[in-house]
Amino acid sequence: MKLKLKIWRQPNNESKGKMINYDIDNVSPDMSFLEMMDMLNENLINKGEDPVAFDHDCREGICGMCSMFINGEPHGPDRLITTCQLHMRKFKDGDTIIIEPFRANAFPVIKDLVVDRSSFDRIQQAGGFISINTSGNTQDANTIPVDKYDADKAFDAATCIGCGACVASCKNASAMLFVSAKVSQFSLLPQGKVEARDRVLNMVNQMDEEGFGNCTNTGACEVECPKGISLENIARMNREYLWSSIKG
Ligand code: SF4
Ligand code: FES
Repeated sequence: MKLKLKIWRQPNNESKGKMINYDIDNVSPDMSFLEMMDMLNENLINKGEDPVAFDHDCREGICGMCSMFINGEPHGPDRLITTCQLHMRKFKDGDTIIIEPFRANAFPVIKDLVVDRSSFDRIQQAGGFISINTSGNTQDANTIPVDKYDADKAFDAATCIGCGACVASCKNASAMLFVSAKVSQFSLLPQGKVEARDRVLNMVNQMDEEGFGNCTNTGACEVECPKGISLENIARMNREYLWSSIKG
């Protein structure tokens, strides 16, 4: 396949970025999107040009690093997959592909397609954990009965990989799908209920401090989420936040 790529190039956060056109030939439909980007970068390096910076690690849909906005959608045109799982067979010979970084004030561009998502880490640090007494008297987690329904819901929430596609797809750059998944994965389990009240308040406050917007209720985040995280997590987080605010 022969493709035209329009890629956002930005040397660093202080400089202005712009779209640059690249032509690429001999792209196999069996290549992954990132392999196509590798091929482009090899061509650029051979010509003595600066390769396009983009994030990646596992390349199998686990780490959440490959944050690319492809033809107007985070992780591209396919559903329930990350950019690294996207294959070039989704495109046609002669297509133009527009590739941009995930855009949000709370995700400043580091270079080209690489954004700083450490705001997510700070939200996690604000409450995305449980405290355990490890003095030797810790109860074996397997001895605590957990309702199957709640266990499944907690597991579904825990599949969030922190990629940020929910933020990139939201017109308010809201992080509520991410934060609600992290809140829910603990609050549904007995081990997480102990600190549930502080957790939801601290994580939501940190989310606001980082500059993420409020939920628009349009549901774009759920559609674009590679892990199918449900909007019901946002409803659960809102209920918990209200309850915790009233109770103090
Ligand atoms: S909720 Fe979905 S889109 Fe948002 S960070 Fe988690 S996995 Fe990514
Ligand atoms: S590189 Fe890890 S999810 Fe894509």
